[in-house]
Amino acid sequence: MGHAYPSGILTNADLEKIVDTSDEWITTRTGIKQRHKAADHEYTSQFAVIAANLALERAGLKPEDIEIILCATTTPDQIMPSTGALVQAQIGATNAAGMDVFAACSGFLYGITMVESMIRTGQIKHALVIGAEVLTKYVDYTDRSTCVIFGDGAGAAVLAPVAPGKGVLATKIRSDGRFAEQLYAPGGGTRLGTTHQTIDNRDHFFKMKGNELFKIAVRSMAEISKEILDQAGYTVDDVDLVIPHQANQRITDAVASRLNVPEEKVYSNIAEHGNTSSASIPIALDECLQSGKIKEGSLVLLTAFGGGVTWGGTLVRF
Ligand code: ACO
Repeated sequence: MGHAYPSGILTNADLEKIVDTSDEWITTRTGIKQRHKAADHEYTSQFAVIAANLALERAGLKPEDIEIILCATTTPDQIMPSTGALVQAQIGATNAAGMDVFAACSGFLYGITMVESMIRTGQIKHALVIGAEVLTKYVDYTDRSTCVIFGDGAGAAVLAPVAPGKGVLATKIRSDGRFAEQLYAPGGGTRLGTTHQTIDNRDHFFKMKGNELFKIAVRSMAEISKEILDQAGYTVDDVDLVIPHQANQRITDAVASRLNVPEEKVYSNIAEHGNTSSASIPIALDECLQSGKIKEGSLVLLTAFGGGVTWGGTLVRF
């Protein structure tokens, strides 16, 4: 695994100067103290490439060994071509197919679920799954309910065949498009194409009904976690570490409480990084591997929820 962030940091104190908010409100409602923010000249694939090269180096593989690159992102470099294809070119993965996974914060688990079966069936041997976002360019810095939450970054994982009983033990993804407008960017697509009017209306920025999403997020992540544990024949007591999508500290706490997992078994880095959407799980995983929190044999439960709405759960034996 590997991960990367832009060097720019936006603290709660910085936000206090931009919108009507306070460090106290942001900290108690979200757990976030700061988030990384890309500079104007920085873009998503740059961070994806740093994370991917680090993951390849640590896996002892060459870019040519990779057969598929799935880049989970909601904030691509541009609408076409895919960020996955741009990453493929930049890392020199000349034998790979690069494409994007468009599932908001659940995108990394969607990507894992797709390539896991390709590796299991022998169709491919090595894959790169990346979660990469520059959300701050889609955030409306006049909307205090969203601009305090999101940050930028990227995380990457190399997937390869492992012995039975190791690796991905169970994985499941879901969506419910009926809730699409709870988190969306209305403008810029074929439905509401970019015009002077849509720009003036700020339709190209994310809109979020945060408190409605909150309830669905907690319920969905807890339910799918139980489903995949059942599917793999484990209980929550067997799990060494839970890494939920870093959406909001209160969502993480509520999921942990529904699953009956003690606080020390639940990873959180939201205070330093904010919500980085599809990048949050691979970044957290890499941090845990580097710090030794995840060891050989650790059983790790990943769960995510995001716009769409989408959600997923993956159980991994390292
Ligand atoms: N500073 C100060 N006050 C604020 C701020 C702010 N930054 N933002 C909102 N408020 C105010 C609201 O205006 C409201 O005021 P009112 O009562 O006078 O109307 C009050 O605070 C409460 O607002 P709520 O929206 O009810 O606050 P809540 O406790 O729900 O927290 C939050 C909002 C942080 C957005 C929370 O709902 C949340 O995190 N939701 C889930 C987000 C999520 O999971 N998104 C999906 C995953 S991310 C992805 O897919 C990319």
